[in-house]
Amino acid sequence: WGPEGHAIVADIAQSHLDPAAAAQVRALLALEGYDRLDQIASWADQHRKEMPGTGGWHYVDIPLEAPDYRAARDCPRDNCIVAQLDHFTRVLADRSASPQARLEALKWVVHLAGDIHQPMHAVDHDDKGGNTVQVQFFGIGTNLHSVWDGRVIEHQLDLKLGPNYSIDRTAVAARAKQLEAGITPAELAQWAPAGTLATLDTRVVDWANESHHLARTVAYTDLAKPSGVAWSERYQAKAWPVIRERLEQGGVRLAEILDEALGSR
Ligand code: ADE
Ligand code: ZN
Repeated sequence: WGPEGHAIVADIAQSHLDPAAAAQVRALLALEGYDRLDQIASWADQHRKEMPGTGGWHYVDIPLEAPDYRAARDCPRDNCIVAQLDHFTRVLADRSASPQARLEALKWVVHLAGDIHQPMHAVDHDDKGGNTVQVQFFGIGTNLHSVWDGRVIEHQLDLKLGPNYSIDRTAVAARAKQLEAGITPAELAQWAPAGTLATLDTRVVDWANESHHLARTVAYTDLAKPSGVAWSERYQAKAWPVIRERLEQGGVRLAEILDEALGSR
């Protein structure tokens, strides 16, 4: 996601944390003077250049034509989001790790729990997850990956990025609250049943497979002539319900894994 998507996921998670996890999160964030998860949600993108070798941690290139994730094919040397989200959640849970290492792990967990829910972060069609697929979206030249990272969200929620990819945190938090209000108790129970870290490895694979399936069935369809207002309207109408649900699921699942890593479970 872009900065708005990551902040929305973080905001939704923040309000779903159990009290024990919320206190631990607050203590870790305070090490660097932060007080909310949205403030660290895009850290991994902002500091990508200073962390060479981490670019591959943000996504997993499951071939478009493949039915699902295969670790040996799609995650060599643990160089993918599935392995790294699992890894950093365990560092965060490790009481013997240093507070600084656990804060860095928290930054990664918040970011990667978001990205793994972005459909284009779990697919490749020899196009770098849609980054090389040029489209005209509502009159502006962009690419398919960016449409899913931010353009649809910005169009739907009337948000705009400021200089250097900055966001209006208050405006984004208000939109997050609206999305959150639409999450039903049944969805909550289905998306994020209470568990333990013992099953984390299978859940992160499930989330990547869900994203990949949505890329196959929604994101990569109707791309014969990706330009014009009619196409943009049609694409927005089909992508938004998917993106909305993925942001909501990302938020409640992030809260759940933070509860498991930091809470009483
Ligand atoms: N680069 C290569 N594949 C990618 C993907 N699926 N998402 C983001 N960046 C990528
Ligand atoms: Zn990312």
